[in-house]
Amino acid sequence: MGSTEGITGPLADYECTAIAKAPAVTQLNPPHRLLCGPGPGNAHPRVHAAMSLPEIGHLDPAFISMMEDIKSLLRYAWQTNNEFTIPVSGTGSAAMEACMANLVEAGDKVLIFSNGYFGPRLADMASRYGGEVIEEKAPWGTVFSFDAIKASVEKHKPVLACLVHAETSTGAAQPLEGVGKLCHDNGALLVADTVTSIFGVPCHLDKWGSGRRVRWYPK
Ligand SMILES: Cc1ncc(COP(=O)(O)O)c(C=O)c1O
Repeated sequence: MGSTEGITGPLADYECTAIAKAPAVTQLNPPHRLLCGPGPGNAHPRVHAAMSLPEIGHLDPAFISMMEDIKSLLRYAWQTNNEFTIPVSGTGSAAMEACMANLVEAGDKVLIFSNGYFGPRLADMASRYGGEVIEEKAPWGTVFSFDAIKASVEKHKPVLACLVHAETSTGAAQPLEGVGKLCHDNGALLVADTVTSIFGVPCHLDKWGSGRRVRWYPK
């Protein structure tokens, strides 16, 4: 039952006219759980501590310097020197959507390699932005060989080629060595979903392809 006891001033008036009454809730006190699924996972105590620090505005000079630190740390995690390495403040799906919204224009050929749950999601998103989606399918639990990827990229000459680095639905790790360069040589951008691979297995963005042409997103 809601309680308005102790509420004074303008809020008390608000309470009198409110259709939805303020519910009585207790102090937030989540239980400790050991999270063993593919996500979410338990955060390091340093992360918890950082999350209780004071907020600052996004135009604060201190924010800009923190952002630069985060960008350098991300460049280290992905092993790239690309200046345009940025975090998206949202879920993995928000980053997927950001890639598709910014990279797909109506009529663009988008080649999606699907071997699990997340490839078809990319295909869905690309088609909603008007992309002409071509889906290469492999059985769940398997990965695409470099030769199969090469044959398809050379055949279709897409604007965008999309692969899931670690298919969470099966645990299959898709080798990406050389795929960035292959796409670059065929005029395509490569989007690689590294949501569950990053920090779990090595990602060598610059070594595996041209950093200018690859968009990878993490959880
Ligand atoms: C490979 C992969 N891509 C994308 C996503 C979507 O991320 P989110 O659940 O944070 O939206 C997930 C989520 O588990 C994922 O495993």
